[in-house]
Amino acid sequence: MLRRARLHSVQCLSTYGRAQTIFRMQHTALAEKRVIVSGIQPTGVPHLGNYLGALKSWVELQNTAQPQDELYFFIVGLHALTVPQNPKTLFADRQNLMAALLAIGVDPLRCTLFQQDAVPEHAELMWYFACITSFGRLERMTTWKSKLATLHNGGNTDHVQASQLQLGLFAYPVLQAADILLYHPTHVPVGEDQAQHLELTRDIAEGFNRMVKKRYFPTPSTLHTPSKKILSLRNPAVKMSKSAPDANSRILLTDSPKNIQAKVRRAVTDADRFLSYDPEARPGVSNLINILSALDGGTLRRELGTTVLDTDPARLAETLHTATGGSGAKLKAILSESLIEALRPIQERYHDLLQDPTYLATIEKRGAERARERAHTTISQVRTMLGLQKETL
Ligand code: TYM
Repeated sequence: MLRRARLHSVQCLSTYGRAQTIFRMQHTALAEKRVIVSGIQPTGVPHLGNYLGALKSWVELQNTAQPQDELYFFIVGLHALTVPQNPKTLFADRQNLMAALLAIGVDPLRCTLFQQDAVPEHAELMWYFACITSFGRLERMTTWKSKLATLHNGGNTDHVQASQLQLGLFAYPVLQAADILLYHPTHVPVGEDQAQHLELTRDIAEGFNRMVKKRYFPTPSTLHTPSKKILSLRNPAVKMSKSAPDANSRILLTDSPKNIQAKVRRAVTDADRFLSYDPEARPGVSNLINILSALDGGTLRRELGTTVLDTDPARLAETLHTATGGSGAKLKAILSESLIEALRPIQERYHDLLQDPTYLATIEKRGAERARERAHTTISQVRTMLGLQKETL
C-alpha cells in the first residue's frame, strides 16, 4: 500500500499557509523552466529549524511546480564525513533521513531524490572548483571562522589551530557549490545560515564562466522562507541546531507529544506578561510565534475558534494576545498542540516507511540513476571545456 501511495539576490518565500502564493514572483517568467536544488546533512533526525527553514518549502515548491520544472533534493553523506562518523550510525542516519524526507511529502515521482554520495560527479566537480577557489575566500567563511574560534577558546595558538582542522571541513563550501551547480539550478531553498555558502556558489559560477569565457553555470537565487532562522528553545540568541549539547534546545520531527510539551514548556521567553512580536527585543517569545505562524494553522484556528487567521507573525501575536490574555503559558500550550498535530501524520508515515527498507533502497537507486544522467552531462561538458577530453561524450 505504501509503495503505491507513495533573481540573483535573496528572495523570500511567503509560506504563510498558502502554497499557491509561493511563486507569484515567478509569474513574470511563467514559461521559464525552474530548476530547484537543495540538500540536507544526514546528521540525525531533522529538527524544526530544518523543517520550517527548508524542508517544508521543498514540498511546497514541489506541489506548486509547473510540468517543465525540475527539482533535485539530496542527502549529503559526503558533507557528513567532515566530522568523525561511526559508519553504522551514518548508514542508518542516511536511510532514516530518506524516510523522513518521504514522510514530510517529498514525492520521488516528481523530484529527483537521492543520496549525494551515490553520485560521484559531485566530488569530481568539487575538484574543478577547488582549483579556482582561493584559500583566502574560504578562510572568510563563517563556519570555518567559528571552528577556529572554538579552538582558540581552547587555548591553542593560531598555527596549531589551522593545522589541526581538516581539509574537508575547510573545503566543504566548495563541495556545496558543486552539489548545487551540477544541476544548473535557478533557485536554492535554504535557511538563513546557508546564505554565505550560496554567495560563494555564485562567485564560483562566475569565476568558472570567466575562465571558460562563456556563461555556462547559472548564478542561482537563494530562496528563504519567513522562518529562515528558527532559534534555539533554550538560548534564543542562537539558531536551533543539531549539534547543540542541550537536547531541549530543539524539537525533532520524531519527538513524542510528551517530549514536545516538555520542551516547549521549558522554552526560554521573558517575564513580560503580554504577547508581542519583536524579534530584537523579545527573541524567545517571537521565536515561538514565528514557529506557530509557519505551521499550517488548522489546530491554531480551532484553538482560537476562528476559520480565518492572519498568520503574519506580528498580527498573529496580536490575535494571540487577545485570545490568551497575554499568557505565555497559554501560548506554549497552543504551540505544543499545533506541533503535535502537525507532526503526527509525518511521524506515522515515517515509522511505516522505516518498515520497508527495500522500498527506501529502490527510491535511492532510482534517484541516483536520474541524478547521474544530469550530472554526467554537466561533467562531460566541463571536462571538454577544461581540456580533459576532446569532445563532450
Ligand atoms: P543542514 O543539514 O545543516 O540543514 C538543512 C537545511 O535546514 C536549514 N536550517 C535551518 N533553517 C532555519 N532555522 C534553523 N535553525 C535551521 N537549521 C538548519 C539549513 O539552512 C538548510 O537549508 N551545508 C548544508 C547542506 C548542503 C546543501 C547543499 C544545501 C550541502 N549541499 C546544496 C543546499 C544545497 C547544511 O549543512 O544544511
